[in-house]
Amino acid sequence: MLKTFDSRRNLFIANDTAEAIAFATEHWIHSAKQAIQQRGKFAVALSGGSTPKAIYQALSHEKDLDWTKVFLFWSDERSVPPDHPDSNYKMAMESFGKLPIPPHQIFRMKAEEHREQNAKDYEEKIRHHLGKHLFDLVMLGVGEDGHTASLFPNTEALHVEDRLVVPNYVEAHKTWRMTFTFPCINQSAKIAFYALGASKQTIIPQVLNAPIVSSYPASKIGTPEHPALWILDKAAASGISKSDP
Ligand code: 6PG
Repeated sequence: MLKTFDSRRNLFIANDTAEAIAFATEHWIHSAKQAIQQRGKFAVALSGGSTPKAIYQALSHEKDLDWTKVFLFWSDERSVPPDHPDSNYKMAMESFGKLPIPPHQIFRMKAEEHREQNAKDYEEKIRHHLGKHLFDLVMLGVGEDGHTASLFPNTEALHVEDRLVVPNYVEAHKTWRMTFTFPCINQSAKIAFYALGASKQTIIPQVLNAPIVSSYPASKIGTPEHPALWILDKAAASGISKSDP
């Protein structure tokens, strides 16, 4: 079921996990084919998280897409090398398997060292390869504290308006991350949140009902020009009251 939540957010509520992942995978493939047809390439920003992993695994069987036109970026990364079990890059690449994406179109976000310089270089790569039209699709999750990408509550990156990518120190986890900024995400053509299961049922209505600027970073994602699509299952959506818009 697809419905409008407000002018900045739409919801798809699946009956169960399998239906949500099937819908998310179809949405990804449709976005890719549409971008390739219209602009000759598909630029997507991947995220970490359990649902994206299932989507990448489903995509690994997709034969009817011109994978040579796909450009992979990441919306955030942990400060670990690419072979570390916590690496979002490693998770995505292992889940995709042997898809024929040209290696020079795969842009790992290097967050483990020289973070300031690497953030600037990543922004430069985005601008060089994508120009003014940023991503065709940005994939996002939401944490139980309302973070998205590595935009965590009470962190510096929430205030950045003039950059696309920044390092972000997360005091709550005593760690560095690298992340897209709000302007980077909100300028992208399509934005999809994936949130499944009962562990998300409290945070989802809080994020959706909060004012744009709130203690939940995920509340600021989505604009009338580029609305965010929230792909949920019934368990995750069960806290959204019927009276919500
Ligand atoms: C990461 C993510 C992060 C994630 C949320 C939700 O690096 O882990 O980019 O923002 O999407 O924490 O993750 P789950 O969907 O696995 O709960």
